[in-house]
Amino acid sequence: MAIRLIILAAGKGTRMKSQLPKVLHPLAGKPLLGHVIDTGLSLNASGITVVIGHGAELVKDTITQDVQWAMQTEQLGTAHAVMQGLEGITDDDTVLLTYGDVPLTRASTYQKLLDVVSDTRMGLLTLRMDDPTGYGRILREGNTEDGPIIGIVEQKDASPEQIAIKEGNCGVISIRGKWLLSLLKQIGNDNAQGEYYLTDLIGLAVQNNVAVEAIHPDDAWETDGVNSRVQLATLERVHQANQAQALMEGGVTLHDPSRIDIRGTLTHGTDVDIDINAVFIGNCHVGSNVTIGPNCTFENASIGDGTHVKANSVIEDSVIGENGDIGPFARLRPGCELADNVKIGNFVETKKAIIGNGSKVNHLSYVGDAELAENVNVGAGTITCNYDGANKHKTIIGSGAFIGSNAALVAPVTIGNDATIGAGSTISKEAPEGKLTITRAKQTTIDGWQRPTKKQ
Ligand code: UD1
Ligand code: MG
Repeated sequence: MAIRLIILAAGKGTRMKSQLPKVLHPLAGKPLLGHVIDTGLSLNASGITVVIGHGAELVKDTITQDVQWAMQTEQLGTAHAVMQGLEGITDDDTVLLTYGDVPLTRASTYQKLLDVVSDTRMGLLTLRMDDPTGYGRILREGNTEDGPIIGIVEQKDASPEQIAIKEGNCGVISIRGKWLLSLLKQIGNDNAQGEYYLTDLIGLAVQNNVAVEAIHPDDAWETDGVNSRVQLATLERVHQANQAQALMEGGVTLHDPSRIDIRGTLTHGTDVDIDINAVFIGNCHVGSNVTIGPNCTFENASIGDGTHVKANSVIEDSVIGENGDIGPFARLRPGCELADNVKIGNFVETKKAIIGNGSKVNHLSYVGDAELAENVNVGAGTITCNYDGANKHKTIIGSGAFIGSNAALVAPVTIGNDATIGAGSTISKEAPEGKLTITRAKQTTIDGWQRPTKKQ
């Protein structure tokens, strides 16, 4: 008995006022639909079918997870949408039906829905709401709060008494394949919207002696869908607050839990301290006793134990070792690998730089396509001239080398171990080990020279 998911994502999302299909709008850096698919994948579903329509090609091109696609060319209603996604569903399957624009439903909530399914029972996610406007209303026998569920009525079809019902349909259904396959065929479109309502499945199931078990989410936001950018922003904050809470519960100090954004995953050691406005993108790791100053951005970055990243630093696709000292205002572009005890100071940009233990690039430098061995000291304003206008070239600097301030190292070039480069030099040939190499013009003083004076 396999678990199968059908995710409805064919709708246009008019209220987003966007060229982008609604389900591709990102929440925490990932498309809304991607969140639903990932939650589905965590349930070990044997297949996930996504029903698409508006912007179908773009949706297929953007979503990277392995799913089966089904097309709904005309949006004739939620039941019609499900009918397009039935390929491969068999009588014995347990099928979960959900929406691609409801991103934050917990896997545990889906699991509860799946667990109640049998040949004589199905599951329905419902919630009592202060204001259920827009939601289908849950009809229960005898109009009581806990009587058996007998159907759902859509708001537009509801009588005044039914409108007053506070229990809303959240839209997620779990059901045995054989009931889904047989009952869907019986759904018509004779209603206020002229649509094939998936919600009619409930009444039909009851007529066939299938009991409908109501499952409730632990938190109301689990069932919130995104119809507008306002709702998207609201759910983004909910999600970020949840992640911040998990970090704090895991032992991370956050100076302000409302000012951290994680758009991907962040793993961490103990006693990490994060100041305000940190953004983590992709897969990031921060080791134990790492401190992060205000306004730092990390993308696929790994920060070793005991490293301090100071204010306004940006670190992308790079690995930093232990006890490093980075920033303020450091920019590490992709491909940097810093060993332990490395210092990258203010207004330093590095790219594809492999930097050895104890080396320092303290101020105002560009180090790109470079390999620095251990204990190298790069003076202020040093530039590795890696690009000749056509190709990139490498700079290799040996251990213990000292590069004077404002040096231009014209790659490809090698600086030997313990070599010293005089300040202001332009180095385009190998600088030998242990020696001072300097290209500076000799300093002269002109005796008797006089400053020009203004003509009268
Ligand atoms: C639906 C439910 C309602 C429930 C509400 C919860 C029906 C008839 N009504 O109403 O009881 O309270 O969700 O949010 O099911 N979609 C398609 N193809 C279609 C129509 C819809 O793929 O032809 C997709 C949409 O993209 C969306 C989802 O199905 O993701 C729900 O459609 P929507 O029109 O928003 O349903 P509601 O009218 O809100
Ligand atoms: Mg609708």
